[in-house]
Amino acid sequence: MKYTIHNFHEIAPELLPKLAEIHMGDHGLLSELGYPFVERYFEIVYKNKQVVAVYAQNDETGELIGYNIAAPEPAALTGQLTSDRAWFIKQIIKAAFTRPLAIVQLVVSSLTIRTQMQNEADAIESLYLTINPNYRGMGMGGTLQRGLFEAVRAAGYKRIVGSVEISNQASLKMCLSNGFTITKTFREGKYTRHRIEKIL
Ligand SMILES: CC(C)(COP(=O)(O)OP(=O)(O)OC[C@H]1O[C@@H](n2cnc3c(N)ncnc32)[C@H](O)[C@@H]1OP(=O)(O)O)[C@@H](O)C(=O)NCCC(=O)NCCS
Repeated sequence: MKYTIHNFHEIAPELLPKLAEIHMGDHGLLSELGYPFVERYFEIVYKNKQVVAVYAQNDETGELIGYNIAAPEPAALTGQLTSDRAWFIKQIIKAAFTRPLAIVQLVVSSLTIRTQMQNEADAIESLYLTINPNYRGMGMGGTLQRGLFEAVRAAGYKRIVGSVEISNQASLKMCLSNGFTITKTFREGKYTRHRIEKIL
């Protein structure tokens, strides 16, 4: 298979919903909140120039393979979900009825993430890495992660940090193979996560 790793900011905007669909297979908090939040989040990421992100596309079929997104201030991205107040309140009310546990987790995670990124001036946080289920187990996760390392190095960062759920064996193996080390293990509501970092 031939593929190319691209700069996320250069993606054709009409492909953003397709990336959002891939993200729905992530089983994390954002996807638990529902597709409207995911779609809006990807629009925010696309426009935010502090974000360093890559995506991979199959050269032959055009199919999207996956993406890896990093940002120096993760809370600023989720904070922008509230910038259209009317939209946000409507979605939160809907989710409070249909996905109440996700709303509780949202509050816990926002508070936890804020405390994780203190004194990290030279670091960027890897936020989301998801591979299209059709392409999992083929080494694309590791490849895309190395593509992100190149991009964040070029942007001047010295370290990359992140969090991985301790039960996510595929992600943990991938991160350790790519040179991340575990710095601590912590609770984030219902999740138990390893904090990981790599010197670039
Ligand atoms: C985690 C994820 C990105 C890995 O991508 P991938 O392309 O399938 O993974 P790779 O083929 O690069 O394999 C990475 C490593 O995990 C191993 N692995 C792959 N699938 C696995 C599985 N289901 N269980 C255990 N190990 C697995 C591989 O053998 C490889 O190990 P190695 O580096 O020692 O050879 C992908 O499974 C995914 O998108 N999952 C859903 C979203 C997610 O969990 N994202 C990570 C959040 S931190």
